[in-house]
Amino acid sequence: MSYKAINIETGENQLQKGSVVSYPNRGPYGNANWRGNCTGEIIKDLLTFYKPTKFLECFAGGGTGYDVAKSLGITNSVHLDLNPQFGGFNLLEDEFPTGFDFCFSHPPYWDIIKYANNMYQIETIDVHQDISQTESYEEFIKQLDKINLKVYQSLMNGARHAILIGDVKKKGKYYSPFKDMQFFGDLESHVIKVQHNTFSSRKNYTNHSFIPIAHEHLIILKKNSVWQVPITIVKKVNKSLKESLLMTWRDILQATLQELGGKASLSEIYPIIEGTKKALKNQHWKEKVRQTLQIHSNFESVEYGVWKLSIA
Ligand SMILES: C[S@@+](CC[C@H](N)C(=O)[O-])C[C@H]1O[C@@H](n2cnc3c(N)ncnc32)[C@H](O)[C@@H]1O
Repeated sequence: MSYKAINIETGENQLQKGSVVSYPNRGPYGNANWRGNCTGEIIKDLLTFYKPTKFLECFAGGGTGYDVAKSLGITNSVHLDLNPQFGGFNLLEDEFPTGFDFCFSHPPYWDIIKYANNMYQIETIDVHQDISQTESYEEFIKQLDKINLKVYQSLMNGARHAILIGDVKKKGKYYSPFKDMQFFGDLESHVIKVQHNTFSSRKNYTNHSFIPIAHEHLIILKKNSVWQVPITIVKKVNKSLKESLLMTWRDILQATLQELGGKASLSEIYPIIEGTKKALKNQHWKEKVRQTLQIHSNFESVEYGVWKLSIA
């Protein structure tokens, strides 16, 4: 089934203009009081840009996507959410409907806004199935990955999955689900959406110790093969620089003196440097240490055999 598409030549479709978009108004779509809702304008631009034949929306929330679809004359779209208004559909467990060539998802901002039994009541489903109630960030990312894979599997070959996802600052730490989640399919576009009316933009911070988040990510992933799925997986490793052969002798001595409080004798410096990969590869490493201390202006001799960091 097809639907009446807006003429994008005459319309003001921001996606046509480039990969930074800003919608100061959310348009007449969905429940304006639905916390964490998105502007309908971005969904409208996506639908009029890609012109799908069958549209799926995950995390339908307060009905923004539903109203956009209706306003465009789309009659065969499907909108899923735990919200009973959208069928109480559990994206983690329930079997997805099929046949879609475009999906828009707008997941929760981790646990910043809690939905089930807050914005609506759910009686039969465990509240922890609402991914906005997940305390552990790592678990939240796993849930997102599970849902995104389920979406990918159910989409038709050639389909696109557009995901609008925000970053979060919590207890002084920055979390970027966009950076940590898996990508299923080929990344076709990455759009930055300017955020309006956010809590952090309204709050008047006296202590400007962090840059308020004023953007969201919109990524478009494309399914280009029926069976093969390219998956981008983020691997986080914690590596000791002592293992790096790319460290210069200057950097090694700078780190060693920092560890020792800025000033140290050679007899304190040697045991730290002895275990570095660079020292293990150089039988004359002690000579190299003394030479570096002498020739580099970052280091100053305090007394015989004692050195301090002197970085201007
Ligand atoms: C950021 S809101 C979406 C807002 C929506 N785009 C709008 O403009 O109204 C995230 C939604 O995720 C839903 N949600 C969380 N966990 C879910 C799950 N397991 N299955 C289905 N929906 C879920 C919540 O009910 C909430 O409505």
